[in-house]
Amino acid sequence: MDVPPPACLKSPPNIPHKLLLGPGPSNAAEDVLQAMTSPLLGHLHPEFLKIMDEVKEGIQYVFQTKNKLTFAISGTGHAGMECALVNLLEPGDRLLVVDIGFWANRATDMAERCGATVQRVVESPGKAVDAATLEKAIESYRPHVVFVVQGESSTGVCQPLEKFGAICHKHGALLVVDTVASLGGAEFYADRLEVDCVYSATQKCLNAPPSLAPISFSERALEKIKKRTKKVQSYYLDAELLGNYWGCFDEPRRYHHTGMISSVYALRAALARLAAEGLDEAVQKHKRNVQLLYIGLDDIGVSPFVQDETLRLPCLTTVAVPEGIDAKQVCDTLMSQGIEVAGGLGPTAGKLWRIGTFGMNSNEANIKRVVAAMKAALADQKHHI
Ligand SMILES: Cc1ncc(COP(=O)(O)O)c(C=O)c1O
Repeated sequence: MDVPPPACLKSPPNIPHKLLLGPGPSNAAEDVLQAMTSPLLGHLHPEFLKIMDEVKEGIQYVFQTKNKLTFAISGTGHAGMECALVNLLEPGDRLLVVDIGFWANRATDMAERCGATVQRVVESPGKAVDAATLEKAIESYRPHVVFVVQGESSTGVCQPLEKFGAICHKHGALLVVDTVASLGGAEFYADRLEVDCVYSATQKCLNAPPSLAPISFSERALEKIKKRTKKVQSYYLDAELLGNYWGCFDEPRRYHHTGMISSVYALRAALARLAAEGLDEAVQKHKRNVQLLYIGLDDIGVSPFVQDETLRLPCLTTVAVPEGIDAKQVCDTLMSQGIEVAGGLGPTAGKLWRIGTFGMNSNEANIKRVVAAMKAALADQKHHI
């Protein structure tokens, strides 16, 4: 052998239990992890195709859509974002990005790789874009597609989406919505909001491991895909080929890639949990419990970063770092106690902490634990100052 067997693989890995209260992944539910230990099936075996069909129905439920082109991509949230953009944009198309934080840059980068031109309608971190501002931007730029993030995880803002779909359609544009950090933790109704493409990920409010990106395209979006003059540049993310494999069309299913068998089991278990809890109750639970977090933060003398309470994401809270406090040191102290809380991202780096209370992590015990740990970490730093 030119390369010997690595000595490090002779001992088991170190995987401690941590309370994952950062922006994701969240802790996975026990029955979801258990589902992954079920025997493998082939990716075209009838039993597996039936599980895929059930997962599709579960995704239609969480997105609140009847779209037939609904499935899960083998990949994380980024794969969902890329799938939305590579299918809906052709070279020369115009994309309008609603920029309220970090994820606008990612969407812009991906769209430019598709040969699209991009303009942004921008709000400062902690704020959201309103419908009238969006309409003005659409009137002047005349985009083919509008991209917006519902749960902007870099700032903790939940972008209101009322009227966005209708405005886009009035001006002949399609609406793409990222719900990676919000699905199951904030109200979302794809059909009611006239959303043309929505995607998410499994590792936040669904409490499943990262690996799949649920996605759904409206009839309008499918029509645009069918009328493309050029093939979608990515074979792997071609929505029509994936839709065939997921049985979205009335035609025999063909091999596209080897499906993520165990991850699909996990997603089914996660969707079954959410269906049993009820989507509405899940959202209400996040809203109730985040109030306890606000009270706890107030008690220890820190404040939410998003000032307008109606714009706060119920499953991911951002907290302004007080003057003179080393944000990273607080995160390190918490991590040494097995609790993950994150700092800012992109424009908010160093300015805030991000506390995720996704899905089953949204409960009183976790909130008390993280607030007590932050109180001690802050007191310790103030003492040293
Ligand atoms: C709003 C948003 N969009 C997209 C992503 C990318 O998801 P992933 O890291 O699963 O690729 C994230 C990740 O945190 C996110 O918060």
